[in-house]
Amino acid sequence: MYSERVHVMDHPLVAHKLSIIRDKNTSVKDFRELVSEIGMLITYEATRDLPLTTMEVETPICKATVPTLAGKKFAVVPILRAGLGLVDGVLRMVPSARVGHIGMYRDEETLQPHVYFCKMPKDIADRDIIIVDPMLATGGSAAAAISEMKSRGCKNIKLMVLLAAPEGIEKLVKEHPDVDIYCGAVDDHLNEHGYIVPGLGDAGDRIFGTK
Ligand code: PRP
Ligand code: URA
Repeated sequence: MYSERVHVMDHPLVAHKLSIIRDKNTSVKDFRELVSEIGMLITYEATRDLPLTTMEVETPICKATVPTLAGKKFAVVPILRAGLGLVDGVLRMVPSARVGHIGMYRDEETLQPHVYFCKMPKDIADRDIIIVDPMLATGGSAAAAISEMKSRGCKNIKLMVLLAAPEGIEKLVKEHPDVDIYCGAVDDHLNEHGYIVPGLGDAGDRIFGTK
């Protein structure tokens, strides 16, 4: 049992779609489309606490006071490259969100993350943030991305991933206990190369067809 800030999806559509992308024979086209769809479904959960206000409308029947989003400023931040695969799914749910990019790669020997690019909206410190990346493995990349956003003044940060390893969740809960984590599933463990088992392989390579 993890902290109450760890939200593991409990939905048959997410489970079904994840099973398809785990299959090594799934095509790049299908993989990419399913990543986007799962991103959309997890966004549904990750935005559950968005504040509402009310507005007046006139339906064909009568005037009514109805709920509407309170207009909170929102940004989605993909960790490049693989995080790009989730942006479209978030934007389909929250079309007015701004997008900031953070480029990060894992050194294949040391597994340490390195930031190589960071471009954020000017008012990023005033926005609620969802950092997106398909994979939370050692947690090094996500922890560094969260630290980067905090150093830019961001306070309300969530992380959305498709698959997480227990090791990555434990690292984040320890280093960033204020961050909610939304994940499609939690897998068994990491292998000696830092890959999630059973996992889905290298998410970036499968989204972009680079292997
Ligand atoms: C993958 C993945 C995460 C990171 C997870 O990216 O998309 O960013 O590894 O691993 P960690 O939790 O151990 O840090 P990768 O470094 O392979 O880069 P890519 O997105 O360019 O493929
Ligand atoms: N990055 C990936 O793309 N896949 C893993 O299993 C671990 C890190």
